[in-house]
Amino acid sequence: MGKTTNGTRDWAQIYAIYGIEQKHTLIFLIINAIAFSVLSTVFFIYFNPICVFFQSFLFSNAAAARFSAGFFGAVTAISAVCLFFAAANFFYSAVPLRYEMAQRMVGSVGDWSSVKTALDLGCGRGILLNAVATQLKKTGSSGRVVGLDRSMSTTLSTLRTAHIEGVQEYVTCREGDVRRLPFSDNYFDVVVSAVFLHTVGKEYGQKTVEAAAERMRVLGEAVRVLKPGGVGVVWDLVHVPEYVRRLQELRMEEIRVSKRVTAFMVKSHMVSFKKPSQHFVGSGEVRLDWRC
Ligand SMILES: C[S@@+](CC[C@H](N)C(=O)[O-])C[C@H]1O[C@@H](n2cnc3c(N)ncnc32)[C@H](O)[C@@H]1O
Repeated sequence: MGKTTNGTRDWAQIYAIYGIEQKHTLIFLIINAIAFSVLSTVFFIYFNPICVFFQSFLFSNAAAARFSAGFFGAVTAISAVCLFFAAANFFYSAVPLRYEMAQRMVGSVGDWSSVKTALDLGCGRGILLNAVATQLKKTGSSGRVVGLDRSMSTTLSTLRTAHIEGVQEYVTCREGDVRRLPFSDNYFDVVVSAVFLHTVGKEYGQKTVEAAAERMRVLGEAVRVLKPGGVGVVWDLVHVPEYVRRLQELRMEEIRVSKRVTAFMVKSHMVSFKKPSQHFVGSGEVRLDWRC
């Protein structure tokens, strides 16, 4: 991974390997940005005729017509700038930022030499999955990383990207639902997930109690399948404070939250944690069940 030309990353090649998810959003933003640019240019070039046109709606009040035309022209110009900015941020977040964050996530796991099993939840086309596999390859590990995704076609394209990156022998892809992980308790040394958890339960609506419960269930599942002493790293949009609270409730150790990173025009953070090597149950306490 990390194709380089004279020491710099070849983004064109990385875009070619992974493509852009939700292309329709990018296209929508660009079309609207162009439309608003054209509209604001029309306001600029034909300002006087537009004022005359507005005047016919404003009882021949010339001052009000000029103000309205100027106001609409300014709003369309500002909208065009915002839409271009949004499109650029989306384009950057779709691949380069994901790539950078994947490297940061891998870097936040201290020791890869002892990692035999890793899991990527909602692996998509595998930017993070392949970064983990590349790390396993670099450290000469005999370990493997499992990419779990509910879409069979996605897992097939993920395997193709792993092949292109030359890490296919370190990657296994599995079709499944993260809400009921098809793995036994305490199985993985590392569990990672990027820009995924916020999508779980969105069929209930992002801000509903049901969606929050689904996200917490997935976090509980991630903790369940982690070995004692195992490390979890989650990078996600918007809901990270909620994950931190849940991880604290589940008594995870070394919970660290990264500085804010703007991704897809919203705030995002990376949170890492360690599952306690031993969980002592004090008097009057009940053993925690990771499933919620
Ligand atoms: C936004 S993509 C994340 C891609 C990847 N983590 C990355 O950083 O490139 C979300 C992926 O999660 C998968 N997914 C959504 N809901 C899922 C579920 N309940 N169980 C497993 N995978 C799911 C989708 O098929 C999609 O490929």
